[in-house]
Amino acid sequence: MPQFYFMRPSPEQPIGIFDSGIGGLTVAHAIREALPNESIVYFGDTAHLPYGDKSEAAIQAYSVKIADVLLKKGCKVIVIACNSASSAAYELLKEYARYIKIINVIDPMIELLSNGLANKTVGLIGTKRTVQSGVYNRKVEELRQNITLRSLATPLLAPMIEEGFFDNKISHEIIGQYLSDPELQNLDALILACTHYPLIKAEINEHYHSKMTVLDSSQVVAVALKKYLTKENLLNKSGSGNDEFLVSDFTDSFEASTRIFFQKAVHLQRYPLWK
Ligand code: DGL
Repeated sequence: MPQFYFMRPSPEQPIGIFDSGIGGLTVAHAIREALPNESIVYFGDTAHLPYGDKSEAAIQAYSVKIADVLLKKGCKVIVIACNSASSAAYELLKEYARYIKIINVIDPMIELLSNGLANKTVGLIGTKRTVQSGVYNRKVEELRQNITLRSLATPLLAPMIEEGFFDNKISHEIIGQYLSDPELQNLDALILACTHYPLIKAEINEHYHSKMTVLDSSQVVAVALKKYLTKENLLNKSGSGNDEFLVSDFTDSFEASTRIFFQKAVHLQRYPLWK
């Protein structure tokens, strides 16, 4: 392992964030809002998206390559802004890059559930990879709070959102079909276990006539990150918040879509994983 892995990071170093593509920008945006002085290096693996349909082994291989990029960029912490990668590669990355902190999007959500959802029935929607991994079920069981978790893979949603297809008749129809699944009835709360889904939160709320607790991880991950940086004295208090956005494959349409996820247009830089 290279030398720089051994040095204790300093507050000025950037925060590394990655996702299969641009959906993780919802998490990056929440982090940008919560931590305005931090610099961010975001990596979207647009060459390999979607992760939701990939095998665990493939996602692990991509995640290790991306971790190398973020470590080379001198990141002080890595946030896996993707549920599919969090469920497939978190344990591996924790080992691989063990000299820096890795934050996933699942654990902060589990902590949220532990604060008030004991004895409740909670639904979850996410990619096939996330649902099939059973990671959420395992972690919910470990809480021993008698929480019943009911999960449904909703593979059409991420590509639909990425195409800018939401808040229209077709998205209403698709979301309605999924949420009407027998598995997702009589819930006390619903977890949006995909970093794309905050963009359809309003439509989901509408489906439930705002009578459902809909939980998305972007804010809770930003809070968990801030808590960690504060505790470790790694908070950048005087930085000017420089951002870098790297993608393994560049297209104009990815760049155009960044606006909907990050709430402002960003410039994407092509950074191939395999040169
Ligand atoms: N944003 C990814 C997640 O949270 C899903 C998109 C994909 O399938 O690549 O799982």
